[in-house]
Amino acid sequence: MSDQRGQFSSKIGFLMAATGSAVGLGNIWGFPTQAASNGGGAFLLAYLVLAFLLAYPALVAELVIGRHARANIVTALDTLGENRATKGLGRAVGYYGVLVASLILSFYAIVAGWMLAEFGKPLAQLLGWQGAADWLASDALGRNLLVCGLFTAATVAIIAKGVENGIEAWSTRLMPLLFLILLGLILYVFTQPGAGEGLKNYLIPDFTQLTDPGLLLSAMGQAFFSLSLGVGTMLIYGSYLRKTDSLPRLGAAVTLLDTGIAFTAGLLILPTMYVAQAQGIAIYSEGGDLLAGPGLIFQVLPALFSTMGGAGIWLSIAFFALMSIAALTSSISMLEAPVSVVTERTRLKRTGAAWTIGLLIFAVSTIILLNMSTLFDAAVSLTTEYSQPLLGIALCVFVGWIMRRNQLLNELKAGHRDIEHSLFWKIWPFYVRLVCPVLILLAFIQSLR
Ligand code: PFF
Repeated sequence: MSDQRGQFSSKIGFLMAATGSAVGLGNIWGFPTQAASNGGGAFLLAYLVLAFLLAYPALVAELVIGRHARANIVTALDTLGENRATKGLGRAVGYYGVLVASLILSFYAIVAGWMLAEFGKPLAQLLGWQGAADWLASDALGRNLLVCGLFTAATVAIIAKGVENGIEAWSTRLMPLLFLILLGLILYVFTQPGAGEGLKNYLIPDFTQLTDPGLLLSAMGQAFFSLSLGVGTMLIYGSYLRKTDSLPRLGAAVTLLDTGIAFTAGLLILPTMYVAQAQGIAIYSEGGDLLAGPGLIFQVLPALFSTMGGAGIWLSIAFFALMSIAALTSSISMLEAPVSVVTERTRLKRTGAAWTIGLLIFAVSTIILLNMSTLFDAAVSLTTEYSQPLLGIALCVFVGWIMRRNQLLNELKAGHRDIEHSLFWKIWPFYVRLVCPVLILLAFIQSLR
């Protein structure tokens, strides 16, 4: 079976793909603004601790299941079960996971489409196509459908090319580019008046906020969303790894890169907001909170870029290219989850499966776009607040309670000979068995309140 399956050609290929999945709109936009409004450096510290102590063990759990079963999430959880009940539960969790991944993609593609439109707008201006630029700046349904459809089609086209030529090849091209654009933008913004103020706001810790349990829980939620946990994307990427690769090491590298890029994105977003403030643009809402959601990306930043003349056009292109790339490498991992289930469980080939599922997801995006005010937020909270934590618990339970200890050890040993005597092996099984499920459950209960 493994001969017909795709496989990453190298560790770097996996790292680029998994980091590409992890680094998305959540890092570049979600993390910095959450940090700024929740105690700056204190949130950063809480986030780092939670990412390594909680999200990292859960990530290794997903990688272990995937590589052990060498299959998609549905088949993998089915084969782990030892009786009819656990097998049935496994399939149910698996189908629920890919459904959630698809639903996340349906709203993620809408936002990613807006990023594409903002990227196209200054390009059209440069070419002198003012009409096109105005249309791209509008909020018309036609524009939203077109850019969302284009983004979804790009995602499908990459997935249709398979693991090595699609996911790995594109992630390996796009991720270094993302990092270069991010660094270039930071260097530029640091030279602008107001940047220092933003840096202070981001980095100086306000430890009084750390006593607020809500803060710790939202840092944990952010860490789980950022590492793409629970919906089978990391699981399927793990299934394309070679047996000789060390899962704890690769997982640690992905966590480090993901948190590192989230931290670095903060060095761009916060200083940029305060540069905007220095230009007279409002960055606080009427209630006194720092602007976060769409208000930041689609109002503050374009307003700032337009005060910067010629440089603003290039900054705008670079910034929205960064956002579009971050979104694309995440969305391909979301689409791979359902596509792998369909190709491995039916006769449909990869290309047909990718386009069919892509079309279905676009249909859902269209329904959301037609009912934006009611459906968008509902889709976001249903998937990220409610479903991801529950699925995270389910996957930890499969590893901690249903997989046998020697199965786990053998899987880890394959790429890491001396694992049995490592600190990792002393702590991790207990963590996924008890600590992770209990803490995720706490976060979940908190989100219900
Ligand atoms: N990790 C992505 C981000 O931070 O934007 C979001 C994400 C990707 C969530 C893939 C879930 C997923 F399956």
